[in-house]
Amino acid sequence: MMTIKDVNPNLIQAQYAVRGKITNRAQELEDKGRKIIYCNIGNPQALKQKPVTFIRQVLSLLEYPELMDMPEAKKIYPADVISRAKLIMQKNPNGTGAYTMSSGIAFIREAIAEFIKNRDGIPTDKNKIILTDGASKGVQAALTLILKGGNDGVMIPIPQYPLYSATLALYGAKQIGYFLDESNSWQLNEKILNDSIEDSKKKGINPVAIAVINPGNPTGAVLSKDNMEMIIRFAKKNNLSLLADEVYQENVYLDGIKFISFAKVMHDMNEKEVTLFSFHSVSKGFLGECGHRGGYFEIRNMAEEVFEQLIKLQSLGLCSNVDGQIVTYLMVAPPKPGEESYELYKKERDGIMNELKAKSRILGEGLNEINGMECEVPHGAMYAFVKFELPHKHGVDVSKMSVDERYAYDSKRDFEYCLALLEETGICVVPGSGFGQLPGTMHFRTTILPPRADISSLVEQMKKFHTNYVKNMLVE
Ligand SMILES: Cc1ncc(COP(=O)(O)O)c(C=O)c1O
Repeated sequence: MMTIKDVNPNLIQAQYAVRGKITNRAQELEDKGRKIIYCNIGNPQALKQKPVTFIRQVLSLLEYPELMDMPEAKKIYPADVISRAKLIMQKNPNGTGAYTMSSGIAFIREAIAEFIKNRDGIPTDKNKIILTDGASKGVQAALTLILKGGNDGVMIPIPQYPLYSATLALYGAKQIGYFLDESNSWQLNEKILNDSIEDSKKKGINPVAIAVINPGNPTGAVLSKDNMEMIIRFAKKNNLSLLADEVYQENVYLDGIKFISFAKVMHDMNEKEVTLFSFHSVSKGFLGECGHRGGYFEIRNMAEEVFEQLIKLQSLGLCSNVDGQIVTYLMVAPPKPGEESYELYKKERDGIMNELKAKSRILGEGLNEINGMECEVPHGAMYAFVKFELPHKHGVDVSKMSVDERYAYDSKRDFEYCLALLEETGICVVPGSGFGQLPGTMHFRTTILPPRADISSLVEQMKKFHTNYVKNMLVE
């Protein structure tokens, strides 16, 4: 029998906090009948967000194509749903049960290229788009391609979505963290980037890429064009590939702020040397189709022989799942004005986006009112990354701690805090240490996804919990 000592040590090393010990405990409590509010993961449909009808209608016909030609179908489905399903069948006659090309179904890649062209006003090559089982698989493919082993390292934001740190650990590669600037709405800071890369080189690490998440998880930040130009110049100067995680591109809430893609900024800068991987997904935005595992990545500035290796890599997994490919197609080619489904589609889309926008404000502003808590009202994505303060127990002198000791001390404290929050209130959030944070600070990440009616009570419960937690620490 295999025992733990037979397990790949890189896997043991990999940490994935959003599904870690606190979530496991939440599940145990739920099994015992406790009501749990899962704010730990950006999984909208698990928090009662309804799927967009058009997507599910088309999918249902494709899963049972005989339905399309039954007279009853006309009574159940809008005409454009039936014609869209027929079009997909015609373009992909083998249906959802057959493998597709490794890079994905050709007409879907064409539709994605069209989507990027319309979004950014830039030329886009459909042959440099690869469909994936969610963005996660795209990120892992890019990292597999890039990392040659040894001391290769990738710059990743701190705080970051732990897919990056976990995958680097799994691949035995080096993580080069760069802190995001909390005092400047979590933008990237050139000096911090320079210091971090220089420091890594001194340690013998060979930096090969930089990952940027925009809009940010867990920060909720949306990067400015200036900031993105700085990042591109930095990548070029240091000969780094750029991994642009843009899965939250639809999730921008603050008036006057706009998502801009790295592809667009690179095009406008006429940048032809920095290799760019841009990732997108059906899991976020207003679709929230996490379970369908759809997404794609688009590549710019890559030698053809390198791209061939990437396609070979994809072919090892045969292809991404076909339902996910179809949902990706429907994401980039939604119903058009004038089509029968359009009004309902628009109503559902706007309804979800307006709710997310309102909830980001209610949650962000509510948490900011709690004494000892502070957060940026999320500009985008689906999270607030909340800084909180706790008193130190009697006899603890943090000034005597090294940076590492301080980090370990605060990681233990934010974990204990989040666990106590769960035990007492049923609210499941993720400790900041799961994403990384500046030593000497503590955070937790909460999603903005629970139904609006639950959000105000969530803020109230957090306030009560925090006040009592601090009070109890002071009497200990
Ligand atoms: C920044 C970021 N990238 C990638 C992913 C993975 O998404 P997918 O479901 O498309 O694999 C997530 C999921 O939460 C995310 O937050």
